[in-house]
Amino acid sequence: MTKTAQQEIDELRQELRRHEHLYYVLDQPEITDAEYDVLMRRLRDLETRNPDLLTPDSPTQRVGGKPREGFVKVAHSAPMLSLDNALNEGELRDFDRRVRELLGGEPFRYVAELKMDGLSMAAHYAGGLFRQAVTRGDGAVGEDVTENARTIRSLPLRTPEAEPFEVRGEVIMTRRSFEKLNADRESENLPKFANPRNAAAGALRALDPAMTASRQLDYYAYFLLRGGEYRFDSHWESLDWLAHSGFKVNPKRHLCESVDELWDFCAKWERERDGLPYEIDGVVAKVDSVAQQKRLGWTAKAPRWAIAVKFAARQAETLVDNVEVQVGRTGALTPVAHLAPVVVGGVTVTRATLHNEDEIERLGLHIGDTVLIERSGDVIPKVVRVVRQGAGRRPFVMPSTCPVCGGEVVREAGEAASRCINTNCPARLKESLLHFSMRSVMDIDGLGEALVDQLVDRGLVKSVADLYGLTLEQLLELERMGSKSAQKILDNIQASRSRPLPRVLNGLGIPFVGERTAQILADTFGGVDVIASAGLDQLQKADEVGPKVAHSIAQFFAEPRNRELVERLREAGLQFTQEIVVKPAGPFDGLTFVLTGTLPTLTRDQAKARIEAAGGKVAGSVSRKTDFVVAGEDAGSKLDKARALGVAVLDEAQLLEKLG
Ligand code: IVH
Repeated sequence: MTKTAQQEIDELRQELRRHEHLYYVLDQPEITDAEYDVLMRRLRDLETRNPDLLTPDSPTQRVGGKPREGFVKVAHSAPMLSLDNALNEGELRDFDRRVRELLGGEPFRYVAELKMDGLSMAAHYAGGLFRQAVTRGDGAVGEDVTENARTIRSLPLRTPEAEPFEVRGEVIMTRRSFEKLNADRESENLPKFANPRNAAAGALRALDPAMTASRQLDYYAYFLLRGGEYRFDSHWESLDWLAHSGFKVNPKRHLCESVDELWDFCAKWERERDGLPYEIDGVVAKVDSVAQQKRLGWTAKAPRWAIAVKFAARQAETLVDNVEVQVGRTGALTPVAHLAPVVVGGVTVTRATLHNEDEIERLGLHIGDTVLIERSGDVIPKVVRVVRQGAGRRPFVMPSTCPVCGGEVVREAGEAASRCINTNCPARLKESLLHFSMRSVMDIDGLGEALVDQLVDRGLVKSVADLYGLTLEQLLELERMGSKSAQKILDNIQASRSRPLPRVLNGLGIPFVGERTAQILADTFGGVDVIASAGLDQLQKADEVGPKVAHSIAQFFAEPRNRELVERLREAGLQFTQEIVVKPAGPFDGLTFVLTGTLPTLTRDQAKARIEAAGGKVAGSVSRKTDFVVAGEDAGSKLDKARALGVAVLDEAQLLEKLG
């Protein structure tokens, strides 16, 4: 007997959900990523061929739906208040004394949990399905981020419980995802995030769920409600129930019999926090019994039965020995404070970024001052303030010439950064070479900082293209270079000649063109020459390419030096074209649709799947590029806009007719 599509889809979904839970919640995968991908692809395939079988709780729906124009505000079932803080052991003991007094000497226990440094979010479930996610907002009203939350793999889209309930918890980004994100942003010339919390907040509130998906957020549940009320008699039980229902609950939780035990837990995690894969900023302690919580009650701002024990900021005072500037790949000069070495939270710090001249002025910082520095979740320590002015202190002056090449330094009106404008500046060249050789770009293993320094300092490499003319003899003259490693590097350079077009485009170092944009440009235009000669309008026909990126591309190719680089790389045999993959023609090829209102029979996802299966695109908002607006009942502003712009409007019957 052959299986029906429905049966096969059900089985695949069940299988994928089990593996998601094993991987994202329990951290105990049973299959490889590749095997998981095969199952996912099979399911996606079946759903594309059977669009009416697509449901919102399918594992395929985590990749991110359509972009939105804004967020809808939602009132919370019960206020999402914050907690009072205890900043040290004394304040924790004060809190404990108040609890004991209010409970009249009755025995009680605390649940101690890690205070994860992210942002809180409520998730609503009913009928066994994830329905809605809402940010904390001002505590009374938050924003609906359902589509974005759907992309968080550790948030179950289904649970065994059919009764409606609400989970509250923390959306976080692990240090690993954070570091990867910042590395990607660096290679795309985008500003880096200061800490995982900011990155997570940006991702959760992104208008495009695909962006949220790419940031790999995580969700830890710490609170359970039903209709704004408790469901179990103790908090500990709630946490266990959540864990059994498929949620990720931090296993580092502890039931404490006394305040001493609680303080031990706090002290332990303050010592060991750097070993965790995510940032924490303290410990949350909650009275375990719900009956006792109710007796303790709430103040206007926070519950009396819970407290956040905050870790001491990792701060230290030290002397600013000097301020030097670093020159980046785009020529930006960044002032960096060189500090007398000091240990902060177990790490020796010798440098702190000062960002730019405005920041130095804001701090009132001079060389020779003693400053307070702080490591929070941030990557690079920051200077909080000047604590003492040094005798014989001297101001920092931004050099008017580049400290590396002596070229002119310019600060353009409205820009915070001063830049070296010499495109041949060795500092810029070194950064460009390092970017070019990166694993995700041309992947030239062995071409690291030490080698790049020597190649540039000895004048062997004056442009990225010179890499392809290097000889074995030249490499052998370098320090610490044996014939075996020299040959390996030449082999790796040779192999890079066959890297596909998107990587070559990324390697050119066009501002704002990183991995993703390079891929889109390659797929749209098929070759460097087409891109180089395209006008601004033409460039913007590519997905995600707006005026800023288009301008940057055009400006890059207008510069004779860059055109020369392109010619030399072409002569070296790099890949400057690729075949444009033409999808089999569907009736909607090249057409863009916008959906609005409720259609009589199709859900939005079904309509979208049908349009896409026919080769069409579904966009989130109406513009002159829109070919058709499909309008159902209660269509709103999008329909008005379509009429104003003269865009053709279809109803569902007309859409189905066109689909054939
Ligand atoms: S309990 C009434 N538990 O810290 C219950 N909060 O100032 C309130 N947080 O806004 C929250 N980890 O964003 C709780 N295990 C945890 C937490 C936690 C992090 C955050 C949360 C809240 C803030 C409290």
